[in-house]
Amino acid sequence: PHALAGRHFLKELDFTAEEFRGLIELAVELKAAKKAGTETRHLRGRNIALVFEKTSTRTRCAFEVAAADQGARTTYLDPSGSQMGHKESVKDTARVLGRMFDAIEYRGESQANVEELAAYAGVPVYNGLTDDWHPTQMLADVMTMTEHSDKPLDEMVFAYLGDARFNMGNSYLVTGALLGMDVRIVAPQSYWPAEEIVTHARKLAEISGARITLTEHVHDGVEGADFVATDVWVSMGEPKEVWDERIGALSPYAVTMDVLRATGNSDVKFLHCLPAFHDLGTKVGREIHERHGLDSLEVTDEVFESSHSVVFDEAENRLHTIKAVLVATLA
Ligand code: CP
Ligand code: NVA
Repeated sequence: PHALAGRHFLKELDFTAEEFRGLIELAVELKAAKKAGTETRHLRGRNIALVFEKTSTRTRCAFEVAAADQGARTTYLDPSGSQMGHKESVKDTARVLGRMFDAIEYRGESQANVEELAAYAGVPVYNGLTDDWHPTQMLADVMTMTEHSDKPLDEMVFAYLGDARFNMGNSYLVTGALLGMDVRIVAPQSYWPAEEIVTHARKLAEISGARITLTEHVHDGVEGADFVATDVWVSMGEPKEVWDERIGALSPYAVTMDVLRATGNSDVKFLHCLPAFHDLGTKVGREIHERHGLDSLEVTDEVFESSHSVVFDEAENRLHTIKAVLVATLA
């Protein structure tokens, strides 16, 4: 069995750097096997519950296709389709699903919910995004970085611009610290990760040799970056009313061609977990255009569509990395 057999995947802080890198190595092998048509089915006869209290394209599809590729079956419970949280407690739901399924994925607001599922299910539980962490996304992002750079992880320079108080900002800071990267959080101070998370990251950095910078200055923050990343300015579950405040505070942190040029690296790559507001192709995007006259928010269409952008490799890698988590914990 794999070293992670039977383990949960709840947040980056639960893993050693070696375990995290091991999952990426497994994902690289699984990706190559799938492309070569030589994939072995390690999960025949397994059943995996996918509990989504928030919507999803990539995470849900990655779990479903990864499971199918490996011979496992999935049951999708949509944001309205389960009793959990309405008529039944998380603790009871965990014990029911744990009797029927070999593993459970959960996406919702609350990190406490996914931790409680893990405490009572008796089977591996995976965090498919909470307000605090997005750990499966980190595997895909780090895999994508290794594919697009010749540098070892501990020499890479990574800058995240935008709202860093939520899942993506927290996860990037802690993951970069774990893996020994030069990680910069570039945002207004009020949008930096919580003090407690910064403290965790600094402790990890002492072990890994990571360099951690939190700065309000875009040019200083991105200088020398190999990778520049951002995320939406308003996350799932946040009210519409925050748009005005976010646009006001975060507009100077939008990823533009000027920001990429400020890295001084003509080969800099752009990452985004997606979905992204880079054009008027969405209903929310058009509403924002009407209200604020903006054609894009956290990243311009020019950057998104440029040769710097590796966002669709990153999206594809959700599949291979989530498959690695399933195989490592369940095979
Ligand atoms: N990046 C990501 O988690 O996408 P979905 O919300 O579509 O799953
Ligand atoms: N911060 C975003 C990430 C989406 C994958 C959200 O929580 O909506």
